[in-house]
Amino acid sequence: MKEREHFGSRKAVIYAMAGSAIGLGNIWRFPYMVGEHGGAVFVLIYIVATLLVSLPVFIAEITLGRRSRTSSFGAMSKMDPRHKNRWKWVGLMSVFIPLFILCYYSVIGGWSLYYLIKSCAFDFVKGSPEAVNGLFGSFISSVWMPVWMHLLFLAVCAWIVARGVKSGIERFSRLTIPALFVLIVLLIVYSVSLPGASAGVKYLLKPDFSEFNVKTFVYAMGQSFFSLSLGMGAIVTYGSYVKSDENLVVSSAGTAIFDLLFAVLAGFAIMPAVFAAGIEPGAGPGLIFQSVPFIFSSMGAKWPVVSAIVSILFFLAIVVAAMTSVISLIEVGVAFLHERFGMARPKACALVFVLCGAVGVVCSLSFGPLSGIQIVGKNIFDLFDWFASNVLLLLMAFTVVVFVGFVMKREDVRDEITNGGRKTLNAKLFGGIYFLIKWVAPISVLAIFVTNFIL
Ligand code: PFF
Repeated sequence: MKEREHFGSRKAVIYAMAGSAIGLGNIWRFPYMVGEHGGAVFVLIYIVATLLVSLPVFIAEITLGRRSRTSSFGAMSKMDPRHKNRWKWVGLMSVFIPLFILCYYSVIGGWSLYYLIKSCAFDFVKGSPEAVNGLFGSFISSVWMPVWMHLLFLAVCAWIVARGVKSGIERFSRLTIPALFVLIVLLIVYSVSLPGASAGVKYLLKPDFSEFNVKTFVYAMGQSFFSLSLGMGAIVTYGSYVKSDENLVVSSAGTAIFDLLFAVLAGFAIMPAVFAAGIEPGAGPGLIFQSVPFIFSSMGAKWPVVSAIVSILFFLAIVVAAMTSVISLIEVGVAFLHERFGMARPKACALVFVLCGAVGVVCSLSFGPLSGIQIVGKNIFDLFDWFASNVLLLLMAFTVVVFVGFVMKREDVRDEITNGGRKTLNAKLFGGIYFLIKWVAPISVLAIFVTNFIL
């Protein structure tokens, strides 16, 4: 049998995982979630939820992956063959969820692509801040442009997956992720210096506990899972490629901290500009597409060349960050079709493109011609996002932690987390980590899941 591929080094593991984790979730979704759910209170809960719940779930997923050495579809069946049939359904869910997310995630990828094209045409630098601000509403409510952009974005990603140029993409994200960090810091510096920006900084730093309610918890948790690519089979699959001498706790904590830091930095780049531009922080999914061009436009008045270059680099980095995440979403479906049904990779990619592309068109149109279709006050796009992050991800993450905590033997989990006892610090921490995986994570996830439905 061909030996299973492994990530080469710890750095490679963290880069690959961070490549999947860092994406539109940090830069697009996090700031607007903060704006919709009370500012600093949300940030605070998000940080605590990430460290106390998401990180243990992350460790559980990576442990399951490395122990089973198989993709998310077969991992549970392999670890508990007596109940193979039951776990097969869970495996199927872990393939369905990323494809479901792909449908609407790619629409945002398309928006980013459009904004990249606009920045290449110097539109943000040339336009007045007000005009640039208004562009977004007319763009997403139009019919064709957002649809074409979504399909183009998805087609390029599917084409890359079909060609299997995995190493190229890895090298690409090694460059772009550090570049994105540098760019975001530059944006923070500029954004906080805008007149009126201090209200945005205060909004992120000073919790207003009157804004706090149970919903804040529910959404912060959903955001944290989405951002760390949890509950989607991605981390289980990546875990299966991690070498046996790798320290799982360090890799997991490294990825979680990277991801957390990036989200918070994105918040500090975007929120001050939102306040400076007089945009409503609860404006929803369009928040970065309104505030960031505003930064470039106002910067353009002083330094047109710098502003033009930074705007191109910024949207390019967003497009690439979105692409590396989308590629990992497509890969889950393609690997499944290839492994289970022997479908050739290009054909599997084409199938994923057609199915998710078509559903994505409906999501895209829900900001324009289909905006009248509302269910419980949400349009189709918002409904997809809500259902994925607040229902599907939680259910799947719950199943994984219960599996690792109750179905797998404690000794096996210990063996995996401590590398057979060789990682002495992990051995000392094991009791605490296991407690978080077995009790704290499932109880919190379940409580939050139930709360969704009584709210
Ligand atoms: N974590 C990614 C983000 O924050 O944008 C989204 C994602 C990518 C989820 C890949 C799942 C996944 F497999």
